[in-house]
Amino acid sequence: MADLRVTVAGVEFKNPVIPASGTFGYGREYEQFYPLSRLGGLSTKGTTLLPRQGNPGPRIAETPSGMLNSVGLQNGGVRKFLDYELPNLLQKDTRIVANIAGSTIEECAQLAEILNGSGVDMIELNISCPNVKQGGAAFGTDCCVAAEVTSAVKKVSEKPLMVKLSPNVTSIAEIAKAVEAAGADALSLINTILGMRIDISTRRPILKNNVGGLSGPAVFPVAVRMVWQVYNAVSIPIMGMGGISCCEDAIEMMMAGASAVQVGAAIFSDPYAPVKIIDGMDRWCDENGVKNISEIVGTVRPW
Ligand code: FUM
Repeated sequence: MADLRVTVAGVEFKNPVIPASGTFGYGREYEQFYPLSRLGGLSTKGTTLLPRQGNPGPRIAETPSGMLNSVGLQNGGVRKFLDYELPNLLQKDTRIVANIAGSTIEECAQLAEILNGSGVDMIELNISCPNVKQGGAAFGTDCCVAAEVTSAVKKVSEKPLMVKLSPNVTSIAEIAKAVEAAGADALSLINTILGMRIDISTRRPILKNNVGGLSGPAVFPVAVRMVWQVYNAVSIPIMGMGGISCCEDAIEMMMAGASAVQVGAAIFSDPYAPVKIIDGMDRWCDENGVKNISEIVGTVRPW
């Protein structure tokens, strides 16, 4: 058996597979399928200071090889996370990545400060949600603002800080460099790609929000390209995500430069996807003489 352990920003994960924020809730619904201790960790649904209802529906639309969502960061707020969700998660013997999202820079810093005293292993600062009017992608699509919010959170946070980047930019490498310089300990990418579908019988967008974030296998090549570009631009570790649905995708993403991977939309069609990927990676390592999965990170050989 290969050694699947990976370390990201000083945090050791027992394997490199982590369900992505917003696709796994807080794990409760998935415990009927397998113990959460099988997972390297999990990234919790984006948590805001106060509870949010999210956007009005419809907020999901199917697309070829993917889906659009415009959920709008529905969540119970940080108090509910700390009092109800986190105590349960902390018993699961897996790493907890707390995804946080603020409408203002001050709110992001406040969230990080509140989480200082908690048992979460890492903060994932979401500066890339395309479905909210304030914060979200508005923070993550401008180098200066992305750096400003990263630095404000880094100043107060006692947890390792990973920043989740938006693909809806001209140069993700430039944003990544700005965020690294502002103090991020790791990066996660990509969040969803802004998209739109129209019902041609009503001539109305399918999503009530008109637009939403595209995820699923359709975005995988874009995600691999962006992870590779960012890997070549920064020195901090990357969690790669975007359309990963099988072990081979995860291996490819790690060869592009990801130290670990997050699995998102695939979980909606197959709740077992993360554990199948973990088991598949183990087999793949044995078949390919890889003793430690970290050996493959960034090993693509560009022409
Ligand atoms: O709309 C949402 O809740 C999605 C969040 C995200 O993509 O970060």
